[in-house]
Amino acid sequence: MSTPQIRIPITRPAVGREEADAAAEAIMSGALAQGPRVAEFERRFAEMVGVKHAIAVANGTLAEEAIIQGLGIKAGDEVITVGHTFSATAASILRAGATPRFVDIDPVTWLMDPAAAAAAITPKTKALMPVHLFGLIADMNALGALATKHNLDMIEDACQAVGATQNGKQAGSFG
Ligand SMILES: Cc1ncc(COP(=O)(O)O)c(C=O)c1O
Repeated sequence: MSTPQIRIPITRPAVGREEADAAAEAIMSGALAQGPRVAEFERRFAEMVGVKHAIAVANGTLAEEAIIQGLGIKAGDEVITVGHTFSATAASILRAGATPRFVDIDPVTWLMDPAAAAAAITPKTKALMPVHLFGLIADMNALGALATKHNLDMIEDACQAVGATQNGKQAGSFG
């Protein structure tokens, strides 16, 4: 007897005619890499998230690589993150030559456990990199305090949490 296949989507992209037409317009304009649409997207995205700047890149992996390398994180440095994520999180740390230090997740939220992060800090730690998974934001009060106390950069992997908020602040605006 064959088991019936049930598809449970973890996300439903909200894409319709308007988005398809806007994409077609950009393609037909010939401005495929930059142009007024990209500038408008960056401005409006920054406004939505509540930050000064947003820089559009081709995908989340590139965004994480650019942030980590832009912060000057390099070989010999450690970045605290979680294993319960997409591979790009750790790969972007490795790409900079640094070492990902994996810590446990909270059993209820499945997001970075601040106590576990605190216990993993060493003199080599340069940044915390919590992952906001499935639209849930990690405990940014506790993690933010930890980063401030130890003078660490805060890199949010918000690839799965665009538009999510915690205490009225958008994912991506805590870092
Ligand atoms: C948590 C997380 N981080 C990073 C990425 C990488 O994003 P992209 O696939 O756009 O490179 C993804 C993509 O699924 C993700 O889910």
